[in-house]
Amino acid sequence: MKVLVTGGAGYIGSHTVLELLNQDIDVVVVDNLVNANVESLKRVEQLTGKPVDFVQADVRDSRALDAVFAEHSISAVIHFAGLKAVGESVAKPLDYYSANVYGSTVLAQAMAAAGVHRMIFSSSATVYGEGAQAPYVETMPRGVTSNPYGTSKAMVEQVLTDVANADPAWSVVLLRYFNPIGAHESGQIGEDPQGIPNNLMPFIAQVAVGRREQLSIFGDDYDTADGTCERDYLHVVDLAKGHVKALQATTHSGTHVYNLGTGTATSVKQMVHAFERVNNVQIPYTIAPRRAGDLAAFWANADKAATELDWRAEKDLADMVRDTWRWQQQNPNGYI
Ligand code: NAD
Ligand code: UD1
Repeated sequence: MKVLVTGGAGYIGSHTVLELLNQDIDVVVVDNLVNANVESLKRVEQLTGKPVDFVQADVRDSRALDAVFAEHSISAVIHFAGLKAVGESVAKPLDYYSANVYGSTVLAQAMAAAGVHRMIFSSSATVYGEGAQAPYVETMPRGVTSNPYGTSKAMVEQVLTDVANADPAWSVVLLRYFNPIGAHESGQIGEDPQGIPNNLMPFIAQVAVGRREQLSIFGDDYDTADGTCERDYLHVVDLAKGHVKALQATTHSGTHVYNLGTGTATSVKQMVHAFERVNNVQIPYTIAPRRAGDLAAFWANADKAATELDWRAEKDLADMVRDTWRWQQQNPNGYI
């Protein structure tokens, strides 16, 4: 079996390519490298001892996609490619709708032309919107999204649902990730943000390694146990394995939606203290104003993935902070 992985050189994509290869599933990666370094795939090849076919191309380039489908016998597509920075999406909405929404439609058209009808799509818990009550369950409707990134994810979910409704040949899986963090336990692949990290875990790791002076905690006056926001963090290797499970379990027609999270919430302060305790380092922090658009607390109900995909997050918070720190120490400046 051969799978096309778009965005496979990126953070979640590279970990998923590794897990696919470990299951003897062949992989072709299409990535334009706008937010990745091909070194990630070289390391995956070293770790697995297996080759990865890599094509540097944009998912909006239908001719490039046609050539990939003509050259390889692809059974399914795992579609990670897209832009993901919430703040940037507010400033540059057209970039986000183009890469995420238009890119997904071009990809689905190329798939249909090639007779490939199985897609697993990277969605996000953000599609539950601002008013939803945690824990989030798949039976809840999508809510009102507050930024173009989140709206683009909701739009692609709808586009792919319509495609599957129109033609029973299609099987579409929408995986709603909660907050992926961590790195492969080898410390060889991990998250390599460009510039100042937007997300909590890479920021903590860069403070620990001395690249940043201190962490700003965005608000400690939320209605939560310690006043800081709570999220459902899951280990990226667990998340990657969720894709393999989804690939194996969902061959049937239609649209299938799964939350991928642990089902438990951790506060910002708890995360900082876990990182300090497990790794024996200090993370200086200051309390800063709330960040616009942040919700106080949300986490997954992950029962559906357990029942239907036989997937559960296996790694705990200690694994997540330990593996993040190993990656950061071994690669203080990322892949360069
Ligand atoms: P990432 O930026 O590391 O990976 C995305 C990859 O897609 C990168 O390698 C990038 O170079 C590539 N890419 C971007 N636009 C492209 C295009 N037009 N054509 C071809 N390649 C393109 O991000 P990630 O964290 O690995 O996220 C993967 C997917 O999961 C994204 O769709 C993201 O929105 C989604 N997601 C991520 C998170 C998270 O917290 N990391 C949470 C929910 C959903
Ligand atoms: C963010 C996005 C979300 C996206 C997800 C991908 C926003 C509002 N939401 O989620 O749409 O799907 O990333 O991973 O950007 N924090 C700090 N200091 C920091 C960084 C973060 O205190 O320097 C806090 C935040 O306020 C938040 C928590 O840490 O409470 C987690 O933040 P982050 O890692 O950015 O994830 P989300 O905001 O949940």
